Amino acid sequence: MNQEQYFRRLPKVDLHLHLAGTLQPRTLLDLARKNGVSLPTRDEDRIYRFRDFYDFLDMLERIARCIVSKGDFARVSYEALRDAGAAGNLRYAEMFFNPQYHYAHGIDYETMVDGYIEGIEAAEREFGVVGRLIPSINRELGPDAAVDMVRDLIENPRDRVIGLGMDCAEYKGKPHLFAEAYRMARRAGLRCTAHVCEDNQTLEQAPPSHVIDCIEILGCDRLDHGYNMLADPAVVGRCRDCGIPCTVCSHTCVASRLRTRWDNISRMHEGGLSLVVCTDDPPMFGTDIGQAYVTVCEELRMSPAEAADLSLAGIDATWLSNDEKRGMRRRFKAEIDVLMAALDSSSEGSARQEASRA
Ligand code: ADE
Ligand code: ZN
Repeated sequence: MNQEQYFRRLPKVDLHLHLAGTLQPRTLLDLARKNGVSLPTRDEDRIYRFRDFYDFLDMLERIARCIVSKGDFARVSYEALRDAGAAGNLRYAEMFFNPQYHYAHGIDYETMVDGYIEGIEAAEREFGVVGRLIPSINRELGPDAAVDMVRDLIENPRDRVIGLGMDCAEYKGKPHLFAEAYRMARRAGLRCTAHVCEDNQTLEQAPPSHVIDCIEILGCDRLDHGYNMLADPAVVGRCRDCGIPCTVCSHTCVASRLRTRWDNISRMHEGGLSLVVCTDDPPMFGTDIGQAYVTVCEELRMSPAEAADLSLAGIDATWLSNDEKRGMRRRFKAEIDVLMAALDSSSEGSARQEASRA
């Protein structure tokens, strides 16, 4: 096995994955037809092309319109875990969904959450990939709507719903405005994270000070993205010192921004931040969890042992109990030992082949 295959086959967690962003083009076209939603194109190769971040967010909202029945929701979460398990040996995911996208089309919280749970349970049985859910606030709709959404999830508790997130365009909903929604969630025992400082928004739109607000005002114990904090070394130092994990995503909605993203992830790594490699919206960005690890491990020039540490660090950043983390770490280590052994023997073999070819 070569190093790229090893990175791809490492056991992994993904803690930053939006369910509405996981539909393969074929599934999206299917659901759009079934539910009478028109899409900009029916060409599978063109359906996920975006002018910019805002064009991408519009598409997400349109995708959400295509997911209507409980069975549709179940199909989406089932396929998300099935595909990620096959593409990159995903073992565990904490996945976002936006109830507010669906409220707008008359769908109640129970339909979506129970549909997603049904799909997760089926994927867990068939593929052994475990899933949990994080309802996410659409910050563009403002603080009052966020409070209503959080009330809904508190009134309809589910074991698989373990936290609260927040996404969409940061300048349209700054973190501090959502203090009440987050306070309610924390009081109900939910863990908290938020999208912040994403590098496809400017420093004025998504400034480093927002990271401090997410930690101090919202009580986040994890951050999604965080790249723009690099503009303020004091904020980087604060995150490094408290060890808060950042879920960084190797791919983004516009290909011309990839170089910037990879440089930012490298600088965050060099700055000593605790990183978890994730996918965000994999088919929409033309990637998967295996490719995400290959990209980041190669960019950071990681050795096989360092890549294994990266995969294990992901477990520490999950919201599992300490017992569950211990069990998962044991299983990951056993799998990694087997992979390491296969890598050693065949990479020596391929080195020999290269030498004999030369
Ligand atoms: N929703 C889905 N992906 C997102 C992202 N990367 N940023 C903000 N909102 C999102
Ligand atoms: Zn995201």
